[in-house]
Amino acid sequence: MKHTSPLTLDEIERTLATRSLGRRIELRDRIDSTNREAMALGQADAEHGTLVLADSQTAGRGRLGREWFSPPGINLYASIVIRTTLDTQRLSQWLSWLPLMTALGTAEAIESAGAARVSLKWPNDLLIGDRKVGGILCESGASIRTGPFQVIGIGINVNGERASFPRGLRDVATSIRQETGQEVDRHRLLVRLLEELELCLEEFLTRGIDRLAVEYRRRCTTLGKTVKAVLADGNEYVGTAEGIGDDGSLTMVHEPPRPGGRSEVRQLRAADITHLR
Ligand code: BTN
Repeated sequence: MKHTSPLTLDEIERTLATRSLGRRIELRDRIDSTNREAMALGQADAEHGTLVLADSQTAGRGRLGREWFSPPGINLYASIVIRTTLDTQRLSQWLSWLPLMTALGTAEAIESAGAARVSLKWPNDLLIGDRKVGGILCESGASIRTGPFQVIGIGINVNGERASFPRGLRDVATSIRQETGQEVDRHRLLVRLLEELELCLEEFLTRGIDRLAVEYRRRCTTLGKTVKAVLADGNEYVGTAEGIGDDGSLTMVHEPPRPGGRSEVRQLRAADITHLR
């Protein structure tokens, strides 16, 4: 596997123009999980925007208890501590849209690296074509002194080749380089990622969710598809993904269990989605 130039603090700080995201950076060569470390820093009262970045992870966490493939030298693994002082009413919308806004900002950053169109599989898988180029894992924590916080963890497959993925991932995962044929500068991509994310989060705070929700729906390739949804309790549903609610949930309409019965509408807050057709 050909490694690209190593991540350095100097190179990131030289060009980073964000106000809060990445103002404190903990850069590690190797870590178990940047999310685990960011959660620990959040519990130790780390400020909003603290970024944990690693060149490789030995126990990268994916959604739904899966592992995130995290080899050295080629990808981005980043976790950011997010705090807010929103009142209770707006807080719940913020919390439900945070993973989706993160996906949106990440898609914009990946496209700026020259990739073809990045689409989103609800809630926050980043796809090029039908292969996954990145994923997002949001976790919540709290500290006695500074209260609740979120960690947004972002993994992007940047410069790997097809052969650098384990066999089981080769047909379902891709990297920006695989798609563009060009090596991507990880520093530039990271800086762009932090800037795009900050813009999304600030827009939510100043103007609300409306335009961001339009943009999310525009990119969301799940809409209109027949999907299989597996819920946390193991129940499975097949149906059509009809919309994204104002709370970021997926509206799914599924066929009646018996012929002649009524089709059911379900609002999913969390599920493992497979696109069927
Ligand atoms: C998914 O399953 O799609 C979510 C993957 C999230 C992976 C990233 S890599 C950086 C951060 N640290 C982790 O342990 N996980 C997230």
